[in-house]
Amino acid sequence: MPKKDFGPIESDYEFFMDHGTEAECDAICYARKLADFQVERSLIRWLDFGCGSGEFTVRLLRKLKWSPRRLKMTLMEPVAHQLKLAVERVAPFTQFPLATWERLPAGAGTVPEFDLAVSNHVLYYVEDLEKCVTTLRWLTKPGGKLMLAMSGLENGLVQLWKSGFDSLREAVPYYICEDLERVLVDQNYQFSKTPSRYQLRFPDSEENRMKILRFLFGSHLDRMSKQMLLDEMGKWVVGNLFEMHTVGYLYEVDCP
Ligand SMILES: C[S@@+](CC[C@H](N)C(=O)[O-])C[C@H]1O[C@@H](n2cnc3c(N)ncnc32)[C@H](O)[C@@H]1O
Repeated sequence: MPKKDFGPIESDYEFFMDHGTEAECDAICYARKLADFQVERSLIRWLDFGCGSGEFTVRLLRKLKWSPRRLKMTLMEPVAHQLKLAVERVAPFTQFPLATWERLPAGAGTVPEFDLAVSNHVLYYVEDLEKCVTTLRWLTKPGGKLMLAMSGLENGLVQLWKSGFDSLREAVPYYICEDLERVLVDQNYQFSKTPSRYQLRFPDSEENRMKILRFLFGSHLDRMSKQMLLDEMGKWVVGNLFEMHTVGYLYEVDCP
């Protein structure tokens, strides 16, 4: 069982995706960075770590317009039916059979096999961030890239995590981008960091605010004061709309 199970909160996550520009802004940012990646590569072996239902991956693939003859995809996702959906959605973008993984192979002894490892807003939820990032790095061939998106303390949703877990006198049980940066620096990886600004906007109502809270906290929400969190969300309400303007980051790690 992953640290955060996206199965039970699937429709709440969909609400977030449908009412935010995060995926589109991130996809634009990735596509700019990857614009020349296919040049002089006859085959791109791509690992999508935590692909969810594949919606983001397809959004990015549509922008990249890479030839299906050049693309070989491996999808990793712990929620089985989301993985199945992702396979169906991504299949038209490659001529190769899709590979699926339930978990990452253990680092040591693994043969590097990817040109590109993408992990879009997933690393918050892994058990051991350093182990996961070094394994992704290990799996990427020389000349390849890791593209890792995450938000941190500046982000309004991460601030809500903090308020919720503070109210329980517990540390937030998820990693944030400040943790990722520490790992990248400790490992001496060459990386760049690009902001991706986006907004979350929906008709304001208690039920809609609750959808965001369920997406953020999953089963932890049962132990928290919902009213305290709903009140805190009031600071992003303008008239009849909830409107949060915030930022996440894309980390691009070159693998020499
Ligand atoms: C916020 S969603 C992002 C999904 C997709 N990458 C996207 O951008 O739409 C996080 C995803 O990470 C998956 N996940 C959670 N824990 C994971 C883990 N330990 N390893 C891999 N994926 C995980 C979840 O099941 C979920 O699909």
